[in-house]
Amino acid sequence: VWFLIIIALCIAALNACSSTRVLMQTADNKPSAKRTAAPAIDVSTFDTAAVKQALQTEVYGPIPSLGTVTISDRRVINESVLNGLATLEELTLTVAPDFGDGPQSEDSFIMVLLSPNDADGPVPVIMMETFCPNHDTIPLPGITKPTGDYFSCDGDGMMSSVFGFFFGRYITTPPIEDILGRGYALATTYSSSYVPDRASTALPLLRGRYNNARAIGMWAYQFSAMSHALKSDVRFNKTVAYGHSRYGKSALFAAAFDDTIDGVIAHQSGTGGASLSKGKPGETVAQITEGYPHWFTASYTEDTLTIDQHHLLALIAPRPILLGNARRDVWSDPEGAFLAAKAATPVYKAKGGKGLSATKLGDFKPADSIAYWIRPGTHGVVKEDWPGFLAFMDAHFGD
Ligand code: GCU
Repeated sequence: VWFLIIIALCIAALNACSSTRVLMQTADNKPSAKRTAAPAIDVSTFDTAAVKQALQTEVYGPIPSLGTVTISDRRVINESVLNGLATLEELTLTVAPDFGDGPQSEDSFIMVLLSPNDADGPVPVIMMETFCPNHDTIPLPGITKPTGDYFSCDGDGMMSSVFGFFFGRYITTPPIEDILGRGYALATTYSSSYVPDRASTALPLLRGRYNNARAIGMWAYQFSAMSHALKSDVRFNKTVAYGHSRYGKSALFAAAFDDTIDGVIAHQSGTGGASLSKGKPGETVAQITEGYPHWFTASYTEDTLTIDQHHLLALIAPRPILLGNARRDVWSDPEGAFLAAKAATPVYKAKGGKGLSATKLGDFKPADSIAYWIRPGTHGVVKEDWPGFLAFMDAHFGD
């Protein structure tokens, strides 16, 4: 308990320091003049295949193609949860990713699915990758707990209270009733039980089994597998990849390489996500590759990049993206995400989308195809965030 209290005090102190920096940086609610913006993409020379290749070689490592995906088990846990609002199911997806030599040997992961009972026809699904195991993300009886080591966010555990206090109550569990009540289905997976989020266990697995891919790439692959499985079900018509922070990175990467994913909500995805890698404040490329060597390829360095994260966003065009941010989250660099969105906008426009039309950071336009959301506060998922996410969903995927 004392250890956790000391950690909590350290985080609070760090937050206080970083907030001063960011408040200064964004006090006028506009991108700071000193920051170097990425040049807007020239559509006439934008080469999708070359950008995909560069992103794999320079940033993320290889991403497999789908190979085979089958629903090897489907268990209806309860046909009437949340006062009859939804059906709760647990599906096992058996996958065999393909790195170019044909599908590998199979492995599997679990996806929990909540679908609205009163739908008139097929509905969009929000697919989530989460920090917490499925039974914590969806706190309803009957969901399988992961085997082996896992990060427990169980309701009354000390970790859960500390976690929720600093990162907001919605970091663990999204507002399920609101999501289902608005007519969307929700599919979640705990990615760490597929590729662990720990360098010492992930790296040998990635080298030995997944062609030296990296965790962000394999988590992106999971989004694709989920999208594929969901689209084989007549109850669903669209898939939107949602992720906070590290899973915002995997959600963007997944949609950039898989156009069956119809939209992205990437909240505070930061370095290696929506924020420009070059010349960024907050987390540098050198820091992220040192702290998380299992996330990116070892050759990810700021000096050698021939592309930047606006190219990643442009690959998703014209499909809608929501970029979530918080003013004091200097580590994630909200301004870098805004500048990336701006630089990707010509590609969106060329494909018939709006891209980003906001001219300043606080100008939230949910119907933009790159909608930029920023709120006060720090890193996490708080009660103000989901209304913004759902406004974006309604604007692009509502009836
Ligand atoms: C760390 C990491 C970030 C990441 C974040 C998260 O802070 O440095 O890059 O986005 O964890 O996933 O919450």
